Amino acid sequence: MNTEIVKTFGDVANAPFVKEMRETTANMYRLGWDERNGGNISMMLNESELSKYLDVNKVIRTIPIGFNAKELIGKYFIVTGTGKYFKNVDKDPETNLGIFRIGGENGETAELLWGYADGGKFTSELPAHLMSHIARLSVDAEHRVVLHSHPTYTIAMNAICPIDEIDFTRRLWKSNTEAIVVFPDGVGILPCMVCGTNLIGEATAEKMKKFRLVMWTNHGIYGTGKNLDEAFGLVETVEKTAQLYMLTAGFDNVNVIPDEVLKGLAELWNLSPLEGVLD
Ligand code: 13P
Ligand code: ZN
Repeated sequence: MNTEIVKTFGDVANAPFVKEMRETTANMYRLGWDERNGGNISMMLNESELSKYLDVNKVIRTIPIGFNAKELIGKYFIVTGTGKYFKNVDKDPETNLGIFRIGGENGETAELLWGYADGGKFTSELPAHLMSHIARLSVDAEHRVVLHSHPTYTIAMNAICPIDEIDFTRRLWKSNTEAIVVFPDGVGILPCMVCGTNLIGEATAEKMKKFRLVMWTNHGIYGTGKNLDEAFGLVETVEKTAQLYMLTAGFDNVNVIPDEVLKGLAELWNLSPLEGVLD
């Protein structure tokens, strides 16, 4: 009698974490934030959850990462593919997304377990994603998601404001009462840089030690969080606020949120607002 136990797996494309990626990318596309292949998302996955859907010992291929992500060895990620359109993720997740584990002696390879079905690979912004995961995990054990997007009003507002984190955060907080409540820690900003490099990854990660939101001047924004909703919600609130700012910029603003109200909100919600903005 053959006593071999054959393990069966669920449908990866319909696993809850893949569904969430499909929904989020579709939403971002529909909101007009992510044109063509603009934007990318990475989310850390639990091995126990993942093993319900695939054999984690079956590596399809290994892909060099281009740097050493030593701190992430053994960790699993689902990541959007480079050059892939957000509008297409939902209808073909296996081509537009990939699931891999960080491997190699020094964390220099991605061990692909599912996805990138056309022979593709992870986003060109993987250095910024992985380095940001390392930075966020060092300050928040619950951190899981890095989300990069090109939201229109956020980029427009950044183009007409100084590259000054205190000043930019203040302008946002003064434009929408939700802003200080959702991101009391403010928004970090990098100058315009060449994207898709380890250099911008390192600069982003440095900011991520302090901020959950980091602006890339003339390019887009990064949001992070313990789940997709949280990272998405941060970017969504910045974008809504930037839209309000841009729709009122150039007018005589009769009603601007007073500092007293911002301080009142901080007290009510027990927040620790980014230092230097309200003092
Ligand atoms: P990828 O297609 O490589 O993810 O790049 C898109 C992007 O937004 C670059 O910053
Ligand atoms: Zn981008």
